[in-house]
Parts: sequence; structure tokens; C-alpha cells
Amino acid sequence: MTDDASADRGQLWHGRFDVAPAEELVAFTGSLAVDQRLLVDDVACSRAHVRGLHRAGLLTDSELAEVLGGLDAVEMEFRSGELVFAPGDEDVHTAIERRVTELIGPAGGKLHTGRSRNDQVATAFRRYVVRSLGDLAGRLVDLVAVLAERADEVGTGDDGAYLPGYTHLQQAQPVMLAHHLMAHAWALLRDLDRVLDCRRRADVSPLGAGALAGSSLPLDPDATAADLGFAARFENSLDATSDRDFAAETLFVCSLLAVHLSRMGEEVVLWSTEEFGFVRLDDAYATGSSMLPQKKNPDVAELARGRAGRLIGDLAGFLATLKSLPLAYNRDLQEDKEPVFDALDNVALAIGAMCGLYRTLVFHTERMAAAADSPYAAATDLAELLVADGVPFRSAHAVVGALVRRSLDEGIPFADLVAAEPQLGERALPLLEPGASVLRRTTPGGAGPVPVQAQRARLGAALDAARAAVD
Ligand code: ARG
Repeated sequence: MTDDASADRGQLWHGRFDVAPAEELVAFTGSLAVDQRLLVDDVACSRAHVRGLHRAGLLTDSELAEVLGGLDAVEMEFRSGELVFAPGDEDVHTAIERRVTELIGPAGGKLHTGRSRNDQVATAFRRYVVRSLGDLAGRLVDLVAVLAERADEVGTGDDGAYLPGYTHLQQAQPVMLAHHLMAHAWALLRDLDRVLDCRRRADVSPLGAGALAGSSLPLDPDATAADLGFAARFENSLDATSDRDFAAETLFVCSLLAVHLSRMGEEVVLWSTEEFGFVRLDDAYATGSSMLPQKKNPDVAELARGRAGRLIGDLAGFLATLKSLPLAYNRDLQEDKEPVFDALDNVALAIGAMCGLYRTLVFHTERMAAAADSPYAAATDLAELLVADGVPFRSAHAVVGALVRRSLDEGIPFADLVAAEPQLGERALPLLEPGASVLRRTTPGGAGPVPVQAQRARLGAALDAARAAVD
């Protein structure tokens, strides 16, 4: 094919080439299917860029008006679903320039003055990521608020709900249900903090870095950065065009969040079993079985658990892409968008579903209390009673441990053995009363009502601060 044939196929670089690209190359290297969702961001970046060209005297007033009109038209066509992509549209940037030029003629050829797709794609992608991280932070606030509401509902006072706390998934000590719910809330608030921190670092404009080295034209990257609402411009053009830390960080932040959601999901799976029976799922957040009529399945919780695997894959895969890349731009970097879109989309969906799941969970608090009031729940309290008498903790532990063993081996009620034990006796029996143990967790940050009420107040303050940071 001739140079003209190559130009006919819409290739941006046809001047240098004798023949049009091979079909296999086009099929393998094109990214339009993935990156077309950047169109609105890319058009916004192009507007800022052409306004900069105009200020630099590189576009006349009428050329500026024409190009801006063309960009508006392309955005409108895209939003209304009327934009028809052409076979030569390798990526969204190519498609926009092609369509603007079709619509307005030769002035469209000035759009790409002083710009490369290398700085262009980094700018549009950052703009998308910065906005998406803001959305994600808002969703996180919603989920933390649901947990806080549920904590209030199940009670933080002396009569609040409590359940067994577990280590090694073996019953350990009773904890307030509100305490348990707030444990997830604090993890999510750390995620939120990371999201905002990641957004702060992503909020830097690479526009004006060119292909890798800046430009001979009198461009003003500070002005275009400000025009686009970025907090700053790049410091180094090589770094600006090849840095994808913001993408990798976004993937990490989303992965860790997904891991937290997976832990919440696992808990609901477990708690909704016949064997635990701690919660009942609302019908709107449960699924049935196509074959077994009696089934009610916790699919939301399972997928919150399962999808975390994909998110971890997005992160690990993209870090492998970045590893050892030489400065500056390499086409490998085009691999950044799929995992980031996948991660952001999926955590948004997961948070939405988990908000609904947790908002509608019915807690079977009597069942939780019954499980928590096992005779042995107060074993540590008994040992601590001896400690208050001056007995070394190690000896106290052994005394109580021996009573537990005898009770289990010989089937003697634990309370009888406690009452008969000279070092403990009748005075220890109130510790074995149902619900007594959790009241005794009084230290700051602990699982009993006194510290849980203080914790709830602190969570409220943290939630207010998070809301303010997100707005
Ligand atoms: N589509 C590419 C990307 O997403 C941008 C194009 C840069 N291509 C190039 N050959 N310089 O990274």
C-alpha cells in the first residue's frame, strides 16, 4: 500500500510509512475497546490543551473556536451513542482527533500541536482515576455509616448484643456485637484514608511533557494543569510520561479494600449457616438454588470473598508489567487501563452490594448470646480474680485450666467445680452468670460496653472527618 493508502486508513503516523499496518497488528495493539471510556476526560484535556495553544499564539481566535466546537460535538456524539468509531481508530485519542478533523476540517490538524499521546493518555487517565478515587471514598463513607448504624441498633450499652469472640475460629471471649461491627468499620476507614492519599499523589498533570522531553513551543504546563483542576504539574517530562505509580497504588488500595470486604463476606457466609445461625439474610440480598428448593444462599458475601482474588491478580499482573521498563514511555504501559478499570468497577459494585447486605442483615442476638454464654467463656475472668488476690497469672491459668479439663472429662458442671475450688468458691459464681463476662472488658478499645461506647463516639468523629475530606 502507498503512503496515501496508509493515510486513508487513518493512521496518525502515515507520513513516515510506506504501507498500512497489518491487520494482525491492528487487532493486537488497538485499545479503543478498553480506553473509550476515557473519551470525556480526553476531550476535557484537549480543551485545556488548545486553550493553551491559543494563549501561546499557536491558534487564532477562530481556530480555537472551531476546535472547541469540534470537541464539544464529539463529546455530544459520544454521550448520545452516535459516535461511530472508524477501523483506523487505534485508541480513543486517535478517534477524537479523527472525528474533530472530519467535523471541522483543517483546523482539526492543529489539535495535536505540542502534544504526544504519551502525555495525553497519562493526563486523561489520571483525571479519570482521581475522580474515581473520590467516588470510591464516598462509597466507603456509606459502608462505614451502615456499620455504625447497625452498631447503634444492636446496642452499645450494658444490654447491648454480644457474641463469642474468636481466635483461631475457636471461641475465646465474649465481645459486644457493636464492637465486632466497628472492627470492620475501622479497617474501611483506613482504606478510605489510603484512597484519599492515593488520590493526592495521582492529582498531578503530565500535560506538556510531550512524547518524553517537553516542547520547543511556548507551552505552559502550569496553566493547563490549573485549567484541568489538577493540584500540580509534573516536574520531569520523562517521569511524567512513564510514571504509573498512581495506577499501581490504585490497584493496591482497591486490592486491600477487596481483601477487607472478603473478610466481611466470609463472616456472613459463616454466620448464615444453620450451624452458626447468627444472622438471617434479607431475601433481596440472598439467592436461591435452581435445584434445591429449601436453599437460601449468601452469594453477595461469597462474591465479595471471591472477587478479591481477581483484584489481587490485577495488582500483581500490573506490577509485573511495570517491572524493569526503561524510561520513558513504552507501549507496555497501555496495559494500565484494563486492570485499573476492572478494580475500580468491582470495588464500587462490591461496596454497593455489601452496604445492602449489612443494612438488611437480621442478627439473631439470642442465639449469639447463647453461644457466648458457654460455661467456659469466663475462664479468663476466673484467672484474673485469682490475680487480684495476688496469685501469679501462670498459676491462676493452671488452676482454672485444670477445672475446665475436669469438667469436660468427667461431665461435672463447671460452676460446681468453681464453687468447690477453695481458691475460687461461691464468690466466683457471679462471673459465670450469662452476659457477665463481656461487661468486664473495660480497658480502652476493649470489647465491653464502657469502652465500646467511647469507641462509638470516636468512630462518629472519624466518620464526620472522613465525610468532610471526601466532599
Ligand atoms: N494507547 C496508548 C496507551 O494507552 C497511547 C498511545 C501511545 N502510543 C504510542 N505509540 N506512543 O498507552
